[in-house]
Amino acid sequence: MCGIVGYLGEKNSKKILLDGLKELEYRGYDSAGIAVLQNGEFSNYKAVGKLVNLEEKTKNYETKGFAVGIGHTRWATHGKPTELNAHPHLGESSYVVHNGIIENYAELKKELINNGTVFLSQTDTEVIVHQFEKNLQTAQTAFDAFSQTISELDGAYAVLLVTASEPDTIFFAKHGSPMLVGVNDENEKYFASSDTPLIGHCTNVNYFEDGDFGYVTSDEMMIMAQDGTKKEAIFSKLTQNKLSAQKDGYRFFMEKEIYEQSDVIADTLMGRVGDEEIIFDELDSNLFDGINEIKLCACGTSYHAAMSASYLFERYSKIKTSLEIASEFRYRSPIMSKDTLFVVISQSGETADTLETLKMAKNAGLKTLVICNVDNSSMVRLADACILTRAGIEKGVASTKAFATQVTVFWMMSLYIAKLRKSISDADISKQVSLLREIPTHVKVSDEMHERIKRLSKRYLHGHGFFFIGRDIFYPLALEGALKLKEISYLHAEGYPSGEMKHGPIALADPELFTIALLPEHLHYEKSKSNVEELSARDSTICAISSREFDKADDFIKIPTCKDYMLEFFEMMIVVQILSLEISIRLGNDVDMPRNLAKSVTVE
Ligand code: F6R
Repeated sequence: MCGIVGYLGEKNSKKILLDGLKELEYRGYDSAGIAVLQNGEFSNYKAVGKLVNLEEKTKNYETKGFAVGIGHTRWATHGKPTELNAHPHLGESSYVVHNGIIENYAELKKELINNGTVFLSQTDTEVIVHQFEKNLQTAQTAFDAFSQTISELDGAYAVLLVTASEPDTIFFAKHGSPMLVGVNDENEKYFASSDTPLIGHCTNVNYFEDGDFGYVTSDEMMIMAQDGTKKEAIFSKLTQNKLSAQKDGYRFFMEKEIYEQSDVIADTLMGRVGDEEIIFDELDSNLFDGINEIKLCACGTSYHAAMSASYLFERYSKIKTSLEIASEFRYRSPIMSKDTLFVVISQSGETADTLETLKMAKNAGLKTLVICNVDNSSMVRLADACILTRAGIEKGVASTKAFATQVTVFWMMSLYIAKLRKSISDADISKQVSLLREIPTHVKVSDEMHERIKRLSKRYLHGHGFFFIGRDIFYPLALEGALKLKEISYLHAEGYPSGEMKHGPIALADPELFTIALLPEHLHYEKSKSNVEELSARDSTICAISSREFDKADDFIKIPTCKDYMLEFFEMMIVVQILSLEISIRLGNDVDMPRNLAKSVTVE
């Protein structure tokens, strides 16, 4: 996830900006940069990779006395992690840093190019600075030009801009991406996209609200609301605990990442969900030419996301889809035919087994696609095509938001292929597209729901095992729920297809066998219900998750009524993630770093 810092004051700006960026390192990034305006002159440095590279580049650069400066760590979403794509982005005499995504950047860019603007990067961000400079030519003040620019942007952003035409000012805007400003007795102003860079410098901070924009100088802070009315800053005390600030006050990174899912899914959808169709600018339209089968290959959680894709691809895209566990695939003698699109799925893009299967597919001459969270990772570099999931760095070893964004990408992909193959009607695609837009709302965690699951979790700290059961696409969700629980609680858990229990595992049923039953209202409800009743009749302890009341369960977690089974999927995903989290916390485990596990498995 990208990070922003800004500083206005008399102290050593370079150091303050670099130190601030260091505090944001934990969020993950693949390039970084700073721009400082001092005595009417800009200095700008950028570097790919870790911050030490930027430190090395700036080692002979000194800042003394008043300056305004902005800095950024970038997690690539539009364009590769290169120096040209790193922020800050330059216009003629202004620099900008930006978090989020400008949805209408392509239109703005086209217009600017037609008017002679030259773009240096592939990013959406660069349009902001050029649009500002275009507006500056006719506006009365730099702030007028900035306000106009902000009103022309669609999407999510936190923006800082500095310009030679107002050398003692930092302009800011926030809409959908976090940003705060801190003040102190020394007339300094500090900006950042999260608390940590400000700790130690400021005691009081103002968290901007969506729609806020304005500017600061040494002795002024002008904040406007979206409707153009002036606002007063509302200052609150800044926490002094860095670790808890990194976790945004959550107990564990995993918990924070569960709560982040609404925002990151919105990022995943952004610019890709058109009025009635799915747009993947990153894919060549001929990628699917001559393709009669899709083979999905991955490990762990990514494999579960792949399995959910197999249901969606066959249902909507009507294309034959097969599924492979990477560590198995690489050591058998698979038949690979050239009419197969080979798709690997990986959060990290570095998992050794998955990477190896990608190499095998390439060697066999297959077209390849990677669904990945990390740009420039080994898989992204190797595959013919790539769709980034835009989940931002995932710190918790147990994957949550990566899974959520992978499934979102697959749902979008199933409709993208459906359109190409005309496998379902345009009206059905359009209906699905509007459902997709609703995911972010359905994955918002309510306090009430969290509290309920927390309370229930105390009943599930023992027993001789858990079965998570579901049918259809709820089977991969059951597998994922079981994996989450075993990873962080160390309790034995299995995911199973509901209808398969009677073929063996039902023999285990007794009060100490915990069944977590996924009962979606919109998909095979009656069938799944009878499977759960069979277990209930054999005295298994049942925790049912559904929008419909179910009286055969010992515990019942009610999700809101949804319009579609896929929205129920996302609602239930949240429930199983929080259930695992709360059980693990009660057992006193290290949720973020479970024993024996590594975040990225780069060995066989
Ligand atoms: C589970 C988990 C692992 C990973 C697996 C693949 O929570 O994180 O099962 O999903 O190791 O990793 P990636 O997706 O990076 O290839």
